[in-house]
Amino acid sequence: MPDRFEILHKDLAGRIGRLNTPHGTIETPGLMPVVNPHQCIIPPKELAHMGAKIIITNSYIIHQDSLLKAHALKAGLHDLLGFDGPIMTDSGAFQLSVYGSVDVQPLEILNFQFAIQSDICVPLDIPTPPDVSADRARSELLETEKRLEEAAAQDRPALLAGPIQGSTYPDLRHRAARFLRDKGFDVYPVGGVVPLMEAYRFKDLVEVVTAAKKGLGSGVPVHLFGAGHPMVFALAAAMGCDLFDSAAYALYARQGRYLTALGTWKLEEMNYLPCSCPVCHAHTQKELMESPQKIKLLAMHNLYISLQEMEQVKQCIHEGSLWELLESRCRSHPRMLDGYKRLCAETEWLERLDTATKSTLFYLSPQSASRPEVIRYSRRIDRFSLCGNVLITDDHEADVSGYDHVLHFKPPFGPYPPELSETYPFNAEVPEELDCAAQEQAAKNTKRLIEANPEANFSFRLRHLPEGIGE
Ligand code: GUN
Ligand code: ZN
Repeated sequence: MPDRFEILHKDLAGRIGRLNTPHGTIETPGLMPVVNPHQCIIPPKELAHMGAKIIITNSYIIHQDSLLKAHALKAGLHDLLGFDGPIMTDSGAFQLSVYGSVDVQPLEILNFQFAIQSDICVPLDIPTPPDVSADRARSELLETEKRLEEAAAQDRPALLAGPIQGSTYPDLRHRAARFLRDKGFDVYPVGGVVPLMEAYRFKDLVEVVTAAKKGLGSGVPVHLFGAGHPMVFALAAAMGCDLFDSAAYALYARQGRYLTALGTWKLEEMNYLPCSCPVCHAHTQKELMESPQKIKLLAMHNLYISLQEMEQVKQCIHEGSLWELLESRCRSHPRMLDGYKRLCAETEWLERLDTATKSTLFYLSPQSASRPEVIRYSRRIDRFSLCGNVLITDDHEADVSGYDHVLHFKPPFGPYPPELSETYPFNAEVPEELDCAAQEQAAKNTKRLIEANPEANFSFRLRHLPEGIGE
């Protein structure tokens, strides 16, 4: 048996990986369209044609329907749904969170998932909502952990997921993640976050996901439960989420909503279809509005655009430009910007996970000064050992006679050796007008360099002398 999860490429905390399941290997980050066994807007066979490599369905719905249950037990889940690739099954925990109870025991629904040959099975966890009391979050988490421990002790014919709960308490999320990792699950969903995403609370989302990720460590696959809007894929992938499930493609279609990676539009208020998927290519906005197939066609567009965004995320991870994608996606909504800024506050965590070399760095906003590369350089700048007369200049033609060392200067990095000017990250593309964050970071780095070399005598030839330097 090969390793369940292999990581091939990394960028920020994001990665391209391969997850092995009984029905084949999938590449991550991967999007799992949600299939409702009672009413599929797009049948699973068509989902496969559209590019879905893995789907997710709800074992509780199948279990509660005698016909579906009998079919699944006899011929298997893949036969029931007509999908040959990997299928993940949820446990009914979401029904539990919506209706308050479910009519099945935890081990019963887990064994049912095993029996119908699900590829990734989810025990019956308790999705604790945001903002509940710490006592409730803690006691529900204890119950979830007890059920998960019991699940992990079963012989498993498939992959087993260990959902991480803990409401909006980062310490509980961290503890739950560490506890579950030690029990050896195959996939780790971060649960109970749908209400955060529905309310656009992306700052809180970043807080709970990063807390869980820190508890898990970086080597295991993570699923973000209920993250189906393409707007969040770059942010979630940058935090190291590997699997996403989308009910959004269908739910939004039912409400006449058209998804894009930059947000949601009401189809009836649109004039154009800014997409070239097969649906948008073949219809005008008016034709789509008037089509008797409107919901299905809209669901198809929504899914195409979601799958496309996932490919975009993967391409960016591969070439090392996920930060740039994040910059642009997170500027599509002020609350996304809040989430992005919260992630910038985790730059030291990102720096430890981020690989060193990537494509040219583009400095695009004050948040670019928090990039892992910039923080890494700042941490290491005191390793330069200088003596004698040192010139720090941004005039690359300057007369340097009489100096023992010459350093070039470029915010947000500050001073760096000229021989590295064509090398990542110092070959960064920066705007002509640099913002305060870049200047401040450059000043900070300059100070660290000066303090680390008290014997050297520093001179500056700069268009803008950083604040507090060289006076
Ligand atoms: N679907 C959306 N959120 C959750 C969750 O927290 N747990 C489970 N099992 N399913 C979910
Ligand atoms: Zn389209």
